[in-house]
Amino acid sequence: MISNYNCIEKELNNISVMDTTLRDGEQNPFCTMYDNEKIEIAKMLEKLNVDIIEAGFAASKGNIEVMKEIASKIKKPYLCGLARATKQDIDATYDAFKKYDKRIVHIFVPTSDVQNDAKLKKSEDELIEMAASAVRYAAKYFQIIEFTPEDSVRSKFSTLTKMCKAVISEGAEVINIADTVGYAMPQEFGQLVKNIKQVVKQESDTVKVSAHCHNDYGMATANTYYAIQNGAGQVETTIWGIGERAGNCSLEQIIALSLRKPRTFDTQIDSTKLYEAAKLVSRATGIKSDFAPIVGKSAFSHKSGIHQHAVVNDVNSYEAVNAKDFGRKSELIMGPCSGYHGVISKAQELGYTIDKTVAANIIIKMSNMVRQKIKREFNDNDIRFMLEVIHKS
Ligand code: KIV
Ligand code: ZN
Repeated sequence: MISNYNCIEKELNNISVMDTTLRDGEQNPFCTMYDNEKIEIAKMLEKLNVDIIEAGFAASKGNIEVMKEIASKIKKPYLCGLARATKQDIDATYDAFKKYDKRIVHIFVPTSDVQNDAKLKKSEDELIEMAASAVRYAAKYFQIIEFTPEDSVRSKFSTLTKMCKAVISEGAEVINIADTVGYAMPQEFGQLVKNIKQVVKQESDTVKVSAHCHNDYGMATANTYYAIQNGAGQVETTIWGIGERAGNCSLEQIIALSLRKPRTFDTQIDSTKLYEAAKLVSRATGIKSDFAPIVGKSAFSHKSGIHQHAVVNDVNSYEAVNAKDFGRKSELIMGPCSGYHGVISKAQELGYTIDKTVAANIIIKMSNMVRQKIKREFNDNDIRFMLEVIHKS
């Protein structure tokens, strides 16, 4: 058994959650959302109790209007807008949020050679000046300024250090370490966050380090988790992990890790609403993954006979994550590989008392239907129908 499975919890750090489903999530080629859907999702994010909603990107035509509308419908979380280090983007973000009193502008400048050479072709000094002057300009208009050295992971540490010091001295209060292309491994990312934290600490006790991870090697959640273990005070997530290319760190996965025992961090998120939120984002984008942890269709379902037998007696035998924490229920799914215990228990759930012989009969019926390619999934109505037929015969 993993040690500390049932250990006593110590006082936990509270980590802020910036959800970027509406910004980085929408940058996925297959996740374009209509304005009314974005507003519904923003309201859902507020119900989930996220600390910050990143509502859009000033450079994307059309984002400003919906950002304004979101600002008129939301009360509690901070609202954030992404902006290039230009007056034009900063002004547009201010214009969207000026009537809302918890405004964040999230300014980014590329710091890796590969991105700078491909996009801006500036000297290191010019990049730093560009970042510093944008933060200086934005400081008058926003309660909080977040700054991202884009592609932090592939940037020289010396450049990151100079850039972070410059923007902090102009008023940036969050330094977001971005694994823009999802390249880092967990230990590397954790170490980078730890090193940046030391730099930041020399400048200020209050500036937060944030983690923004992409999933190109499937490490976004692991990297975000390591960032927290190494001092990050904020994480950036999306529902279902939607986002550029292979996506971002998923909100539901990081919240599940916050509840995993022994607990190592806390958030303000109401985990019981995550499933509802995931269904809403699915309806808007068409995106869903049946196998996804926490919100996937099969995340708490059991089909094989051996598992069903054990789960009927104790759900913990085959579930490490607590379904109820996420507004979900454990389920027995009937199929040809179900066993007596599962079928008897399902029948009971549907109001029938059956014995092993009847259960065996149902299993054979399902098996035959699959082998004859008649049907491969059996829902409660199908089982009820079979029970009725057996009952009447
Ligand atoms: O992945 C990234 O670097 C971003 C930034 C613009 C924060 O999304
Ligand atoms: Zn991103």
